[in-house]
Amino acid sequence: MIDDGAEPAAAEAVNAVDRFWESTVNGRSMRLKVPPAKRLLDLVRDDLGLTGTKRSCEIGRCGACMVLVDGAPVNSCLMMAYQCAGRDIVTIEGIADENGGLHPVQRAFLEEGGYQCGYCTPGMIVSVKALLDAVPDPSPEELEEALSGNLCRCTGYGGIIRAVRRAIEEGRENR
Ligand code: FES
Ligand code: FES
Repeated sequence: MIDDGAEPAAAEAVNAVDRFWESTVNGRSMRLKVPPAKRLLDLVRDDLGLTGTKRSCEIGRCGACMVLVDGAPVNSCLMMAYQCAGRDIVTIEGIADENGGLHPVQRAFLEEGGYQCGYCTPGMIVSVKALLDAVPDPSPEELEEALSGNLCRCTGYGGIIRAVRRAIEEGRENR
């Protein structure tokens, strides 16, 4: 919950053990207050309205809820919100540049048709961005490993792999 001074009456009992913490969400410093049992997924979607992060299996198997915490991809359904105190959280909404220009990985997914229904796409893009930030020119094995936690039920992965290869290629050309 964002600490905006307004206290919902129903939350008062829980708030007796709430903790305040400061964190950065998509480049913006925020002072947040969360119940101890709140997951990061619920914080970003329900409290912060960042619904690009998808809720699906909720047990760490599909990657639809992937966000970056201090640059590392995490399944937000498996991380408690309080574990993010003082950390840097980036959701799919924070991946485009500040002027709204698409990130090269987003552009590659769009241009190569790396999606169909799009439900897995935010998590895929977050995982690919994390990989390319750490390893700009990954091997096929590194790519396979990086996407092993992201499931897509629609595309057969052809467009996704083409999109990632295109993003890698553009990265090479721009170095
Ligand atoms: S919703 Fe988190 S891994 Fe599936
Ligand atoms: S595009 Fe539909 S689940 Fe991947």
